[in-house]
Amino acid sequence: MKRRIPAFPEAPSTSRARVAASILDADLGNLAHAVTRAEREGADRIHLDVMDGHFVPNLTFGPKTIKALRRRTRLPFDAHLMIANPGRFIEEYLDAGCDSVTIHVEIDEPIEPTLRAIRAAGRAAGLCVKPNTPLSALEPYQRLLDIVMVMTVEPGFGGQAFMADVAKAKLLAAREILAHKLHGGEVHVDGGVNRETAELSGSLGVDILVVGSALWHKGRDMGREIRLIRALADEGYQYGLNDGVPPIPRDRMVTFASLPRPLARTLQGEIEGAGIPVLLFRSPEDPADMDDETRRWDLLLPASAEAAARDRFGRRRSALARSAGASSQPA
Ligand code: DX5
Ligand code: ZN
Repeated sequence: MKRRIPAFPEAPSTSRARVAASILDADLGNLAHAVTRAEREGADRIHLDVMDGHFVPNLTFGPKTIKALRRRTRLPFDAHLMIANPGRFIEEYLDAGCDSVTIHVEIDEPIEPTLRAIRAAGRAAGLCVKPNTPLSALEPYQRLLDIVMVMTVEPGFGGQAFMADVAKAKLLAAREILAHKLHGGEVHVDGGVNRETAELSGSLGVDILVVGSALWHKGRDMGREIRLIRALADEGYQYGLNDGVPPIPRDRMVTFASLPRPLARTLQGEIEGAGIPVLLFRSPEDPADMDDETRRWDLLLPASAEAAARDRFGRRRSALARSAGASSQPA
């Protein structure tokens, strides 16, 4: 009898680090199987390496292949375009269903219009630097970036050795380029990531580890490799950057305020305007049968953005709480 395969691993990952599976070294004759397998084995994303034979000395696949793969998995698609003219084809990659598109800063065509097109489509926009390109090359585009991708091998081929010096010089610094994003900015490390190099990458604060060849070795348990890489990256983060404290799992939400609905909606709008997503729920502190207009509503936001929200909206929260208190006092 055929084994039933769950669409998602039973237990959701509670880690901070995320693994994007690069399918470059999968069986290119059966990419549909590669993406469904990566999903089943617990990868968080699919990383799609597009090469044009000009920008890099290798050729892979393009938007039609990505579009065909899109309906085979629910995992997000990160496209990594190692091509000389992304501007010319950007609409095709967006139409193919890429959730993020990262282009290279070393190309000889205008970069800003392409980043703007990606953002206008509601997708995350990224810039990637080759090992010898300084991060300062990204500065003119800083405000347009959701993703900074740092290459720790020369782009073009899977299976190369991780350049630890490049990682140390750039990964922490890449975070500063995204300082304007209160939530959702991502540093990706791409090239040579495996169980030997994941801990160092985590200790340098990366959000997304792109993993290619390490996942596709014959006879290897892909799910275990993914779990090990995530866990090692989280250990690296804990002891390298976080004073020994375990990192906040990426999906954990915290209650930031409890307010009557109109005030809760006001604060929600202001916080979301600054780029932090907010959910509103009926507060369990008030009786279940209490009227929706009088009861308090909880504003929930990602724990990873709590400190930024407190800095920016702490005083506003107190002021709204005071005005809620005043309006509930008898006249
Ligand atoms: C290289 C690609 C990488 C590569 C990663 O040009 O951008 O995504 O496939 O593969 P490994 O993990 O084998 O270095
Ligand atoms: Zn890549």
